[in-house]
Amino acid sequence: MLSDPAGTPAVSGENENKKTSMSLRPFGRLDWKVSALGFGAMRLPLTGPGNESLVDEEESIRMIRRAVDLGVNYVDTAWPYHGEKSEGIVGRALKNGYRERVKIATKLPCWLVEKPDDFDRFLDEQLRRLDTDCIDFYLFHAIWRDRWEHIRSMNMIASAEKAMADERIRYLGFSFHDQTGLFREVIDAYDNWTLAQIQYNFLNETVQAGTAGLNYAAQKGLAVVVMEPLLGGNITRPQGRIKEIWENSGKKPADVALRWIWDKPGVSTILSGMSAMQQVLENIESARKSADSSLTGEEHELIERVRTAYSGLNTIPCTKCGYCMPCPHGLDIPYNFEVFNLSRVNPDMGRALYLWHFTESAKASQCQACGICEPLCPQKIPIMENMKKINRHFGQ
Ligand SMILES: NC(=O)c1ccc[n+]([C@@H]2O[C@H](COP(=O)([O-])OP(=O)(O)OC[C@H]3O[C@@H](n4cnc5c(N)ncnc54)[C@H](OP(=O)(O)O)[C@@H]3O)[C@@H](O)[C@H]2O)c1
Repeated sequence: MLSDPAGTPAVSGENENKKTSMSLRPFGRLDWKVSALGFGAMRLPLTGPGNESLVDEEESIRMIRRAVDLGVNYVDTAWPYHGEKSEGIVGRALKNGYRERVKIATKLPCWLVEKPDDFDRFLDEQLRRLDTDCIDFYLFHAIWRDRWEHIRSMNMIASAEKAMADERIRYLGFSFHDQTGLFREVIDAYDNWTLAQIQYNFLNETVQAGTAGLNYAAQKGLAVVVMEPLLGGNITRPQGRIKEIWENSGKKPADVALRWIWDKPGVSTILSGMSAMQQVLENIESARKSADSSLTGEEHELIERVRTAYSGLNTIPCTKCGYCMPCPHGLDIPYNFEVFNLSRVNPDMGRALYLWHFTESAKASQCQACGICEPLCPQKIPIMENMKKINRHFGQ
């Protein structure tokens, strides 16, 4: 058994949940209610910048436990997050009675499955990392067209059914990063999906599954779990004109953006990948206020103004998920996009960062156009073309 690094004493889940009045929501066809906010373990705090695997484990455990104490009952992780450390950290965070108070979701790294037996190899290692006998929600990770074909050719659904029968998995779902048409096709291909995880926020109503996909899944009885509700934090780091709009409104982008999503009745839970305790507390406070139609008319108008301001910027839609990394030539792909996007609203700052805060080998100018990264990007960003654009933009 793994040790309990944070040493937090066990508490009674039921009593604690009553104290917090966390808002609970239906979870598809299940006779179980999920907390409006779920914990996404992909953006845990780091001990230093620039290396996702340097997780501040003690603080991460404190944050996850605090969230559970305040009523969060759903934790989402996956094989690759934080250089494959996230599942182990979640497992250790859920010691001392916390495991019994939450449902765990993790995902099969379908792209690493080379033969049907690999399914069991990954699942058994994930059970070991999470130190649990059963994973409540097991998802095929980041489905898009090629991956869906691969899942079928390797009979992964049959392997998952076997794992449900022997109770290593309780329920099956998938996370999704392609277009609405494929989303419907995947839903219709199998009768026993319990949940679908989609990227959804006020800037992505017609991106990927979008509102149409959300409604389709909900109407088919699936629980819809929302990821990237703040576009990986892009919505909470506004610059220039957009920053002004938020500041003038006196509203916090995270609070308004999250409540905009909770206003959709088809949404079961929102995962936010919180990287600081303050974010956990703020998002839980927003979740407490959430209900259908919690957004005021004034807040709807604010969202509309912010959306219009974004549409004029022509930024690159990177959410810094890091799936494109590592680049074999040493480029920091997400950081190039971040600095480019920043330069669209703050040209001097963007240029200064590109010129002075970048190691030479990590810059767009070093792209060799090998193309390894492009099929890995859930947002389907033409990375090579954009690297050329960034290089031209900064005149390198
Ligand atoms: N299956 C998939 O394909 C897939 C893909 C993506 C995500 N996911 C899952 O979905 C989860 C949620 O997605 P996400 O991590 O992209 O969520 P997100 O909420 O869109 O972005 C998280 C980031 O938003 C910022 N943030 C959060 N709360 C804030 C607050 N109150 N105030 C200010 N900033 C705040 C933080 O940015 P800073 O750290 O910069 O402060 C944080 O790292 C992930 O953690 C992961 O579990 C799954």
